[in-house]
Parts: sequence; structure tokens; C-alpha cells
Amino acid sequence: MSVMHIAGHKHQGPREVTLEEVRATLGNCELCPLWETRNNIVFGVGDPHARVMFVGEGPGKNEDLQGEPFVGAAGKNLDQLLGLAGLKREEVYIANVVKCRPPGNRNPRPEEIEACSPFLREQIRSIWPDVIVCLGNFAAHFVLRTDQGITTLRGRFHQTGHFYVLPVFHPAAALYHREWQQYLDDDFRLLGQWLKDHPKED
Ligand code: URA
Repeated sequence: MSVMHIAGHKHQGPREVTLEEVRATLGNCELCPLWETRNNIVFGVGDPHARVMFVGEGPGKNEDLQGEPFVGAAGKNLDQLLGLAGLKREEVYIANVVKCRPPGNRNPRPEEIEACSPFLREQIRSIWPDVIVCLGNFAAHFVLRTDQGITTLRGRFHQTGHFYVLPVFHPAAALYHREWQQYLDDDFRLLGQWLKDHPKED
């Protein structure tokens, strides 16, 4: 399956593509220059049928070395935050907007996000979660297609098509802006409450 096929397939509904297929299409991707400096592609981890999917910005140093998202300091914060929502890492899915580390942890560039976008789109379509939690601005802008900042967007659920979307501060940003941690904690408690109020239908 080619990237164009994945990106352009109009009739593909939820879950008609598996994560394995998306990963296979990504292959040893060289669609943007980030491949030159990466150690590992960081595709994503978790339950392929998770109710809650988390989207971060892009791999940092530890993630690039280990090939897994949120395994460094930001990941420790994320694990604690998951606890506040009553969630375990194994029952959610975690991915990033870009799958390869931008050198020196710089922001991903628009053309890098664009090149990588079919893969996140297809991951979302495959998992078909009820809630997408956007960790920081890059994820919020990707999912909600807005330019509004995370400070304005956070603290409440948004809706886009099938998905409820909760934008929150990035867990790494709260390590530098300690005053943001309280907002993150509040938003993850809000997520936990939302999940209680919307029991899974099956
Ligand atoms: N920050 C991110 O946005 N993603 C990761 O996987 C790790 C840190």
C-alpha cells in the first residue's frame, strides 16, 4: 500500500486499516529530512482499540534512542497524569505528530508535519478512539485544524467529527513552567470524569 493510497482512500472507514499496515507503509521512511538524523522511528504504542488516544509533538532524545514515545522526563509526568484520569499506559494509545526526532528538539517544521501527516491520520482512523488528548500546540493544531493557542483551547472538550478532543499543555512544558502543572492535573481529572460520565458502549 502506498502513502498516496492511504492518504487518498475516500471509502476507508474506521478500523479498516490495521496499525501493522500503517507501520508497514511507513517502512524506513525518507519522506522528510528527519530520517537523516534519527536513530529510530517512533511509531506509537498501546492498545490498538484504545478509547483514549494521546498525541504528542515528536520524539525527544530518549524516545529516539528507544523507539517508544514518552519514555523520558515528559513520559514520567504523563504516567502520573494518566493515574489522575484513572488510566494505565497499556489501555491507551500514544503517538506523535512527527515520528522522527527533530534535531536538538527543535519544533517540527510545517513541511515535516505535512510529510508525516498521513501516518497519524491513519493511526487515528485505525484506532478510532472516543477521545483524542492533544499534548501541546502541535497536536492541537493538527487535530483541531486551528491556530488558537493551547492556553485558550485547554480545559474543555472540543468535538471534531466522531471525536471528542481534549487539548492540554504539553507534559514537558510543565516541567519548565511549573505553574502549568496544576492545569494539566485539572485537565486529566476532567478526562477521568468524562470517561466515568460516558461509559463504553458495546
Ligand atoms: N515529547 C513528545 O511530544 N513526544 C514524545 O514522544 C516525547 C516527548
